[in-house]
Amino acid sequence: MPIVTVTNMFPEAALEKLAPHCDLRTNQTESPPTAEDLKKHVSESAVIVTYLSDKIGQDIIDCGESLKLIANYGAGFNNIDVAHAAKKGIWVTNTPGVLHETTADLTWAMILGAARCIVPAERFTRENRFKGWQAKMYLGGDVYGKTLGVIGCGEIGSAVARRASGFNMQVLYHNRNRLPQEKERDLNAIYTPLEELLRQSDFVTVHAPLTKATQHMIGKEQFLMMKPTAYFIHTARGKVVDDEALVEALKAGRIAGAALDVYENEPALSQGMTELENLMLLPHIGSASHETRDKMADLVADNVLDALAGKTPRCLVPSWKKQVTR
Ligand code: DGY
Repeated sequence: MPIVTVTNMFPEAALEKLAPHCDLRTNQTESPPTAEDLKKHVSESAVIVTYLSDKIGQDIIDCGESLKLIANYGAGFNNIDVAHAAKKGIWVTNTPGVLHETTADLTWAMILGAARCIVPAERFTRENRFKGWQAKMYLGGDVYGKTLGVIGCGEIGSAVARRASGFNMQVLYHNRNRLPQEKERDLNAIYTPLEELLRQSDFVTVHAPLTKATQHMIGKEQFLMMKPTAYFIHTARGKVVDDEALVEALKAGRIAGAALDVYENEPALSQGMTELENLMLLPHIGSASHETRDKMADLVADNVLDALAGKTPRCLVPSWKKQVTR
């Protein structure tokens, strides 16, 4: 039977779905594979199921002797050299369409949490330091009626924008391509050049994928354009933002606060981050609900079964398709 290797911990139900169809090799521990482990897996397997922390570069891909598919357990796939895989005829898949609502929920938790100082206030209360109501204790910014700026308006950005109507917010968005009018109407969102969005928004939230064009798209210059009362939220991919510039902007009070779920050098935090009270830090949990992680795993399993049956997997990543149609 073809070997399918799942590099990291994976939901049981999806493993059970795969087991009858292959020689399944799993790693149900919290220890990630080393580069050497990945090379070995790739050299032996017909399919490898990867995490975003598995860096699948050219050197690893070249070890594949009968590798058909790299199935990423996530919507993002910047950990894989897709162009090289495509050149070698190895499919690359991801998990679109199942995690955007969950990630949008977390984004809103971060918007509200940053604006209303939820994390420091909770810590203060837990430490038994609450001695009575105070007029100026943990004052934050209002969310209701403010302006939300969404950078990157794909599945996740759109789901974030849609939720803003409950807060009676004005929504501005910036995207590589302007959305069709019907979609803009549905989201009640106004297409806005990036600079203007940064100047006008009270909350700026980033949902752009990491590409050569988006790397460090938000840095010192962009933080200077934001209002000093504005909050910055980031749940996309760390390298889209210059974290050092963000720390500087927060330290200097150039913006009011920020909340991050992803980091430029993930999992490492940039210097100075942990000392900032006005910065909420989360460990990349955008899609981390029981239901969504199960749906993502189920979709991974479907892609693997497609490939094992000799069919083109249903969730080929868009850049793979572009490479092979060139
Ligand atoms: C995603 O699905 O892209 C999440 O960020 C986890 O990789």
